[in-house]
Amino acid sequence: MPVSTPPAAREKWSSKLGFTLAAIGSAVGLGNMWRFPYKTADAGGAAFVVLYLGMTALVGIPLMLAEMTVGRGSGKSPIEALTHFGGKAWGRVGYVYILAGTIILGFYSVVAGWTARYAIEIAVSGLPADPAGHFEAIAFGDMALVWHLGFMLLTTVVVSGGIRGGIEKASLVLMPVLAALVLGLAAYAATLEGSEAGYAYYLGVDFSKVLSLEVLVEAAGQAFFSLSLGMGAILTYSSYLSDDHHLPNESLIISIADFGVAFFAGLVVFPLLFAFGLQAQAQEGLGTLFVALPVAFEEMGGFGRVLGAGFFLALAVGALTSTISLLEVVVSSAVDNLGWNRPRAAWTAALVIFLIGAPAAFSGAYLGLMDAFAGEFLLVIGGLMLSLFVGWAMDDPIGEVSKGTSGIKWFFAWRFLLRFVVPAVLVLVLVFSVQKLAAQIAGFFG
Ligand code: TRP
Repeated sequence: MPVSTPPAAREKWSSKLGFTLAAIGSAVGLGNMWRFPYKTADAGGAAFVVLYLGMTALVGIPLMLAEMTVGRGSGKSPIEALTHFGGKAWGRVGYVYILAGTIILGFYSVVAGWTARYAIEIAVSGLPADPAGHFEAIAFGDMALVWHLGFMLLTTVVVSGGIRGGIEKASLVLMPVLAALVLGLAAYAATLEGSEAGYAYYLGVDFSKVLSLEVLVEAAGQAFFSLSLGMGAILTYSSYLSDDHHLPNESLIISIADFGVAFFAGLVVFPLLFAFGLQAQAQEGLGTLFVALPVAFEEMGGFGRVLGAGFFLALAVGALTSTISLLEVVVSSAVDNLGWNRPRAAWTAALVIFLIGAPAAFSGAYLGLMDAFAGEFLLVIGGLMLSLFVGWAMDDPIGEVSKGTSGIKWFFAWRFLLRFVVPAVLVLVLVFSVQKLAAQIAGFFG
């Protein structure tokens, strides 16, 4: 008879910095590099930034702290973590998280594949002669599928290496690279003639635009997506933490870093566009990134190639540290719930996710639908459930969250936010996201 070995103790991060950088890596991604600057310019400039920071403080940080509390307190992946504190019924929310992570990673990896392809192509063979035609040619089709596969492989190699040997190591290298690239690009953009118009467009204050419900919902939704909340990513990373971490400080550092990268991304994008007379293309979503910016890099001459490769490398690095955390949610659940070893869990999950994302490599409508369903709707549901759980149902969240800190005064305000403010805002966001989803579904079948 085989001797059964007791389950090994759960792996832990080897350093404080390792956890912090991995969580920042999860948060910083494609959402920061384009969605934030674009929404800011669109919705009131600096006034939107203020609103965004307000939503981060009132909704983002309390929820992040809730995920950390449940993750660290249980030392388990989402299903088991919620079962541990709330019983079987709450545990089911964990399945929503796994579904959300699976679908988000499916399409996110396709877009990440574009960024990796651009970085390598520009470094090796220079900027495309006809950026618009080039993007159209590569965005969907067989080669998009191949780059999606490549990005999934890279992600899986890291996750299969475990917390210390894979995720932490990768974050310690990749995050400083990302910060250096973004700061370097922003500094260079500041030297360009005509960049002032870009700053004015990005940050020009327009308070009339922020005073609408829609913009409030935009700000809340963006903060929420950007901080990787609502699908157990922060929860799962926190399950590898020990009790001596000061969770409120961690959540503050992660949120500030996430905002910093988003803000600086705008200081790269808009000065570049305006310095090269491309302001008309400042509002074209993904097209701006993959079409207008390459035109600007081209105009710069030889150095533009270096900058262009650096810019897309920054995007790819940001995307990679996000795909790693998306996959980790699914993998740690397979390890905890099915008893699989990590490599088996990682490669099996990656295969399923690759297949689910594959149609997005051929169809923008499918990609948009996946985003509206999982990237918005499911995340908001997931965040709402968690705020209700920790706010109302969990036994002693304050005792749990205050481990590693010296006082508990502030935690009553935290629980108040989770009980009333966070659910109220998320219900609003939910209403808007249901409308968007309905429009996407109608467009998909229409
Ligand atoms: N925060 C990521 C970004 O800004 C995207 C994202 C949303 C995410 N939810 C996530 C990443 C969960 C990892 C895990 O691009």
